[in-house]
Amino acid sequence: MTEHQAVYTHGHQEAVLRSHRSRTAANSAAYLLAELRPGDAVLDVGCGPGTITADLAELVGPTGRVVAIDTSAQVLEQAAEYVASRGIGNVEFVVADVHALPGPSGEFDVVHAHQVLQHVGDPVAALREMRRVSAPGGLVAARDADYAAMAWYPRLPELDDWMSVFQQTTRANGGEPDAGRRLLAWARAAGFPEVRASSSTWTYATPGERLWWGELWAERVTGSGMAATAVANGLATEQELARIADGWRRWSVEPDGWFGVLHGEILARG
Ligand SMILES: C[S@@+](CC[C@H](N)C(=O)[O-])C[C@H]1O[C@@H](n2cnc3c(N)ncnc32)[C@H](O)[C@@H]1O
Repeated sequence: MTEHQAVYTHGHQEAVLRSHRSRTAANSAAYLLAELRPGDAVLDVGCGPGTITADLAELVGPTGRVVAIDTSAQVLEQAAEYVASRGIGNVEFVVADVHALPGPSGEFDVVHAHQVLQHVGDPVAALREMRRVSAPGGLVAARDADYAAMAWYPRLPELDDWMSVFQQTTRANGGEPDAGRRLLAWARAAGFPEVRASSSTWTYATPGERLWWGELWAERVTGSGMAATAVANGLATEQELARIADGWRRWSVEPDGWFGVLHGEILARG
């Protein structure tokens, strides 16, 4: 579906996947958990390395099942290994694009996407497609960060530059970094008659959390898909990215350092 194409900004380098592997249903899909029932058929869109997928599979198992899709065959292989390592057998992995989901209409009780709609070329079309494959009365659940709403202390100039370069890079790739605040509007535009919107946060404020989050971004700024696109589009030089990475490392050992990530969430029926 070329008209919907966007480039996935982060890429699948180790520092990116290390971040995604820290995710669980509890820390990333709490808004959805009360809606899941054993026996549900779940579609996990853009499953990445599969840690949330595995939790969802356990929650709907043993009678329920999860189909996990991603555009990257490489990350699906890693997700399949991870799910197998936890002894979970009710997940099927399929390479697919959210704009053209495989399978018939109405197949899934729950269609879930975590941190995916910010990266796609047409989030409204993606949500329409997620609605198509959900059963009558079924649920579409999405959660996305909102970069402009992220807050941190101290206000190091390098982190302001990181935000600016990241937002420009994501938009150059056809995505929308401030997706969290738009999910409700996107779902309404996709035709859902009933949408419940909420928000939740991740916080990094202990020495261990700061080191993990700061080092992760220092690596991502210089060595991920973001870095390559930023340089190729003239949004930052390699020297500027190295300076931003140094800023992240300074923040990561700052005893007063605090970082909050706001997310928008929707539960939509239709
Ligand atoms: C930020 S990662 C989130 C992974 C996982 N949901 C999580 O939260 O850990 C976004 C994932 O969406 C995938 N993706 C990007 N565009 C996609 C599209 N159009 N259709 C399906 N998956 C897509 C990427 O390959 C990537 O694995």
